[in-house]
Amino acid sequence: MTTAADRLAALAATAAECRRCALAAGRTQVVFGVGNPEARLVLIGEGPGREEDLRGEPFVGRSGQLLDALLRQELGVDRRQCYIANVVKCRPPGNRDPRPEEITACRPYLDGQLAAIEPSVIVTLGKFASQVVLASDEGIRRLRGRVHPGPQGAWVVPTYHPAAALRGGAAVVAEMRADLVRAKELLVAPAQ
Ligand code: URA
Repeated sequence: MTTAADRLAALAATAAECRRCALAAGRTQVVFGVGNPEARLVLIGEGPGREEDLRGEPFVGRSGQLLDALLRQELGVDRRQCYIANVVKCRPPGNRDPRPEEITACRPYLDGQLAAIEPSVIVTLGKFASQVVLASDEGIRRLRGRVHPGPQGAWVVPTYHPAAALRGGAAVVAEMRADLVRAKELLVAPAQ
């Protein structure tokens, strides 16, 4: 029987050779995802930045430090107890937004990750991830503050991107905290 870890490893091996979009030309490496293949909580960001491209792991720069702190403080978990991935697995040049064709090209990897892990709760970090996972064109301010039904029966909790929280200060961080508390509640007692 193949395990979630086996399925993720096979997908990561395919992604490592991926040339499905133009982002392949500029990457140092594919940043596939990190964490526990059996995690009940998956967090999804937009795409790797410079640090992530160099180190091969999502959210290892300043945004990642904030995310790690919030995970510890609000959920009492380390990043390796959950699973963290991005919508696009290769760094967009100059950290520009991923383009629709890049998101579409990379989509099978994200779908495959979610299908392998089968999380109970997905926290989407920022507008891009929230719109992609929820198939919505609404902005993050409208999407957050509610829980949405998501892929494979998971609950989706949209929140701000940690980079937006770093820019937006205490008020935005407080809203992110509230969203993570909601995610924790869903992990303990799934919504009806
Ligand atoms: N921003 C993201 O959306 N993902 C990362 O991995 C790093 C920064």
